[in-house]
Amino acid sequence: MMTAAFVDQATSLRTLAQSARRARVIAVTSGKGGVGKSNIAVNLAIRMAQSGKQVALLDADLGLANADVLCNVDLKWNLSHLITRKRTLQEVMIQAPGGFHLIGGASGLAKMADLTDQDRQRILDSLTELESMFDVLIIDTGAGINANVLCFTRAADHVLIVTTPEPTAITDAYAVAKVMIRDGQERQMSLVVNQVRSAAEGRAVYERISKVARQFLGIGIYDAGCIFTDENVALAVRRRSPFVMAFPKTPASVCISQLVTRLQPERMLKPQPGGFFHRMSRWLRI
Ligand SMILES: Nc1ncnc2c1ncn2[C@@H]1O[C@H](COP(=O)(O)OP(=O)(O)OP(=O)(O)O)[C@@H](O)[C@H]1O
Ligand SMILES: [Mg+2]
Repeated sequence: MMTAAFVDQATSLRTLAQSARRARVIAVTSGKGGVGKSNIAVNLAIRMAQSGKQVALLDADLGLANADVLCNVDLKWNLSHLITRKRTLQEVMIQAPGGFHLIGGASGLAKMADLTDQDRQRILDSLTELESMFDVLIIDTGAGINANVLCFTRAADHVLIVTTPEPTAITDAYAVAKVMIRDGQERQMSLVVNQVRSAAEGRAVYERISKVARQFLGIGIYDAGCIFTDENVALAVRRRSPFVMAFPKTPASVCISQLVTRLQPERMLKPQPGGFFHRMSRWLRI
């Protein structure tokens, strides 16, 4: 049971989220694991920050949160410490190399469904603040189609689906779009094809998925372009340095810059009504 005081507080938080809202929320997701979400999320965050935006990245991969590893930063705290009131947002959020802010998700998020009203208010309070502080909030959702992933795609303005040209990844990318539509999520969706050998290969994968989505789901998916297979990506991962920083001119880095252009808010990121955490609060049933 929610108390009257809590309902009042939740209402005022929602009002705050709507009035103070600034961030555009991009959820980076995929059906199949290991297709490059975390690398894309981190490097996209850096290139957007370099273009003058205030960017935060929420690592919401509950299974294998690893944006901190890619950036070689030591995260003492994460969102689970906010939930348990052990740390504030300012303590949890760190400035990562490349000029963006990182909030680690870790496994604490998996317990979201079991939270008390007070816990939920705590998250909303902190994250509403986050939404008002940044121009862009990127969420690495982790792979697969489950309640946690869907919660973040539901809350996003834009869902960037990552696939590779592998048939299994293509099938799973389509499945993500399908599940979102079945879930009633009329989000702007775009597709980026990672690990391609040529732009033509990426374009062919996009055409295939978008055609089936149009035909069977009745939706349009934006073409967010492709990212070339690039040996410097794996090298950068081993060096624990995001590839746009370690190898700014390598083909994958050039592709990330093109991705930034394709994701420009004026081109496609029209915000959904209400703020991110307003929608999150609906999911939390507040
Ligand atoms: N464009 C690329 N060129 C070459 N290798 C790549 C490219 N993108 C990703 N990789 C390789 O794929 C690996 C997995 O990438 P990443 O961790 O970003 O995937 P993920 O989708 O986040 O995985 P998970 O589903 O486990 O979270 C990287 O460590 C890297 O070696
Ligand atoms: Mg990942």
